[in-house]
Amino acid sequence: MDVKPRILVARQAPAEVLGRLAAHFEVDLHPGEVPLPPEQLRERLRGKAGVFITGTERISAELLDACPELRAVCTMTVGYNHIDVAACSARGVLVTNTPDVLTETTADFGFALLMATARRMAEGERLLRDGRWTSWAWDFLAGAEVHGSTLGILGMGRIGQAIARRGRFGFGMKVIYHNRSRLAASTEAELGARYLSKDELLREADHLVLVLPYSAAAHHCIGSAELALMKPTATLVNIARGGIVDEDALAAALREGRLAAAGLDVFEGEPRVNPALLTLSNVVLTPHIASATLPTRRAMAELAADNLIAALTGARPPTPLNPEILPA
Ligand code: DGY
Repeated sequence: MDVKPRILVARQAPAEVLGRLAAHFEVDLHPGEVPLPPEQLRERLRGKAGVFITGTERISAELLDACPELRAVCTMTVGYNHIDVAACSARGVLVTNTPDVLTETTADFGFALLMATARRMAEGERLLRDGRWTSWAWDFLAGAEVHGSTLGILGMGRIGQAIARRGRFGFGMKVIYHNRSRLAASTEAELGARYLSKDELLREADHLVLVLPYSAAAHHCIGSAELALMKPTATLVNIARGGIVDEDALAAALREGRLAAAGLDVFEGEPRVNPALLTLSNVVLTPHIASATLPTRRAMAELAADNLIAALTGARPPTPLNPEILPA
């Protein structure tokens, strides 16, 4: 009788996905809501051929050295800054992520957060619930204009482009962007997007959305110097990774009126939130839920499972991050 490869599923997944995995593998599931602490992750990974993770499990070179049987790391996220991909490649471990299936949902949320931030929705809701809505004034909770304004996008990958479409075609916004590499002229024309240097982007945007991938190079790439370039009336939205923004510098800019408002779905030490941000009324805070709709989360889990099944059964995984280690 064939022995099934052993895998770890490090976080709860939809039942139908767990069922598919169980048909191929001997599954060790960590069902808890809290991620496995690193030492427990290491223990549970020993002897496993594959692992299904989310963004809360860190895969380091040390962990890989402690788990030499590991052949596939499949994350149910598009971002992969929690995985040392180079260390995986060096050890012949395949890494996969879940691009595309979350693009539109994440862009919807990015736009919703922009709207909520610019139009002070969370502030208004808090005021109403607290019984502080007592009168009307011409400038009562007056926010920033969204339609017709200038939408800046830092990081013009799939999600950035989906946000650009919403801004351009839904709200008649002027779209400007900065990216490591400039888009093809035809894509720029389709999106009506103008490429600028990062500094020009910061200066011109009425609303700036951060959608760039996180890496050591992107750490705190929005700090006090960058915030100082932005308009005091501007809003900043971060749906990428918390470490991109220096949160202390951001809190100071918001407190001192050097930036109008910020909408943040990601935090440097999440799930802990910088206390300086919690005290400010001009910031909208959400708990890293940009891709959180049931259909999208199911699609992400299915794709992570497709990758894991393919990787350990000799097929070609649909979305590898280090395809160079696959047989030709
Ligand atoms: C992703 O997929 O990278 C999202 O941030 C969810 O973690």
